[in-house]
Amino acid sequence: MGRGAGFGKVILFGEHFVVHGIPGIVSAIDSTADAEVKKNVEGIIVNDERKGANGYAAKKRTQQKESIERMLRTMGIDPKKASLEIWLGGNLPGFSGIGASAASSVAIARAIAKEFEMDLSDGRINEAAYEAEKAYAGNPSGIDNTAATYGGLIWFKKNLSGGPNTIEKLNIREPVEIIIGNTGIVADTKEMVAGVAARKKNNPKKYNPLFKQAEGIAFPARKALEEFNLKKVGKLMNENHHLLRKIEVSCKELDYLVTLAREQGAFGAKLTGGGGGGCMVALTPRKELQEAVATAMEKEGFKVLRTKIGIKKT
Ligand code: PMV
Repeated sequence: MGRGAGFGKVILFGEHFVVHGIPGIVSAIDSTADAEVKKNVEGIIVNDERKGANGYAAKKRTQQKESIERMLRTMGIDPKKASLEIWLGGNLPGFSGIGASAASSVAIARAIAKEFEMDLSDGRINEAAYEAEKAYAGNPSGIDNTAATYGGLIWFKKNLSGGPNTIEKLNIREPVEIIIGNTGIVADTKEMVAGVAARKKNNPKKYNPLFKQAEGIAFPARKALEEFNLKKVGKLMNENHHLLRKIEVSCKELDYLVTLAREQGAFGAKLTGGGGGGCMVALTPRKELQEAVATAMEKEGFKVLRTKIGIKKT
């Protein structure tokens, strides 16, 4: 049997903009998707035991099947002839927006590589997971699978000409507490990404300056993280959320949680991931602040994950 794991992630800066070549900053979190793969069964069987997976819409199941087939082809295995039993689990909550699909793709790719005794580098695993991500995200930037593969805090820039993407590890002084608040709404990343691309094409006068502004946030955000200037990081997260609202990927539940987090003293808050539902992230350095923000959301009936950014790969 082959085993593998992939990290969950939170995008701190630049979701959506990153699809169009603007740099983004992503952090792995300390929860993973785990996979086990066994050969020698009939066809491809997926036992998805992840929390929340039984509420998966039929659409997500179809996307999951397509994603595994894409991954197998990239790894040189014919999906029509493959006989695999895949088990999925791990402690990554089934929230939409924290990279559950990418984490599971990396976990499956690592488990398949072990089961087939392939000696694949992280780069190759990342490539296979990127192919798999296309089934979920249409035209993904690659930021999710990169975080799921390498872990840590990463500066990511998609190469729009098809060459290698920029992937740089960022170092911060120590891990910082965050909370991830879940709206409970399952959004379709593929539709959200396609919507932004269509609006950008139809209305370049409005959208191009917003993309310039997002680029203008990414560089100071990197500097603020590296200098451990958390007040500045938070302020830039707020500005990033404002831009995400302008490109119409937020929703009233996300805005509500973002405002609530700021009222409770979070240094900054924004939606994270594809938007349209899914999750938001708030920067809440120190346990007390993290607890205050998390409890306020839980009191309102929202599910919350307490975690940290900048944790070293385990
Ligand atoms: O919603 P998630 O966790 O799949 O994050 C998607 C991030 C996007 O920037 C919206 C898409 C991408 O491929 O970068």
